[in-house]
Amino acid sequence: MEIVAKLINASKSYKAGDTTITALHETSLSFYSNRLTLILGPSGSGKTTLLSLLGCVISPSTGEVNLLGRNINDLSMNELADLRLNKIGFVFQGFNLLQPLTAFENVRMPLLLKRENPKVAREKTIKALEMVGMLDRQKNLPRMLSGGQRQRIAIARALVTNPEILLCDEPTASIDALSAKKVMEELKVLADSGKAVIVVTHDTRLTRYADRIIYVSEGRCDDRPFNIEESF
Ligand SMILES: Nc1ncnc2c1ncn2[C@@H]1O[C@H](COP(=O)(O)OP(=O)(O)OP(=O)(O)O)[C@@H](O)[C@H]1O
Ligand SMILES: [Mg+2]
Repeated sequence: MEIVAKLINASKSYKAGDTTITALHETSLSFYSNRLTLILGPSGSGKTTLLSLLGCVISPSTGEVNLLGRNINDLSMNELADLRLNKIGFVFQGFNLLQPLTAFENVRMPLLLKRENPKVAREKTIKALEMVGMLDRQKNLPRMLSGGQRQRIAIARALVTNPEILLCDEPTASIDALSAKKVMEELKVLADSGKAVIVVTHDTRLTRYADRIIYVSEGRCDDRPFNIEESF
């Protein structure tokens, strides 16, 4: 277990006309490899903001975000893009798969961006599809897949570069209970295999899969100690 990401007095505010919305108040938190961390809180509480800071999608208004030992404020645009592409897998809220591309092509996309050798890219894509149990649907377009299956393709796409950190925003939203269970079990296997898996949700049923839970309310984080046995 190692620290892979750290917020040090990090906050995020947005200006909307004359008013400023503080989406995340000053927060200090560490995130670890080999752990499935759940970020739980109601709509508008700042969960996506927290995850976006960790994914270098936005930068903090104050404080510091440290990823794999580097302060992201010190990185150039190219270094940031490199970090996002190689070290972080992001499953977005709504999972935005590219509709005209097949499942295989969607999963392969990050490897094309990396200019991976085509043969190696093919092998890695097949392996990622296998990991989420979707190899048999590789030729399907997203519209031919169920919500849960699309979610698994989005996870395969986030995994295909073998990132150290996997960030998932509401990975079980709008899917049925059985698909949600499959998705969470896969994410748990990935955490147990050594990755830092960070999952944002407002679904309290997912707490059973968590090694750790961070509660977010009105932009403030509460990191409570958590005993997994208690949730059963
Ligand atoms: N780009 C933005 N500009 C202005 N305000 C924003 C922006 N992004 C988020 N906010 C505001 O910050 C607050 C936190 O938003 P955030 O998206 O982090 O919430 P959330 O917990 O992910 O909610 P949900 O569960 O609905 O996805 C909200 O009040 C939101 O309106
Ligand atoms: Mg959100």
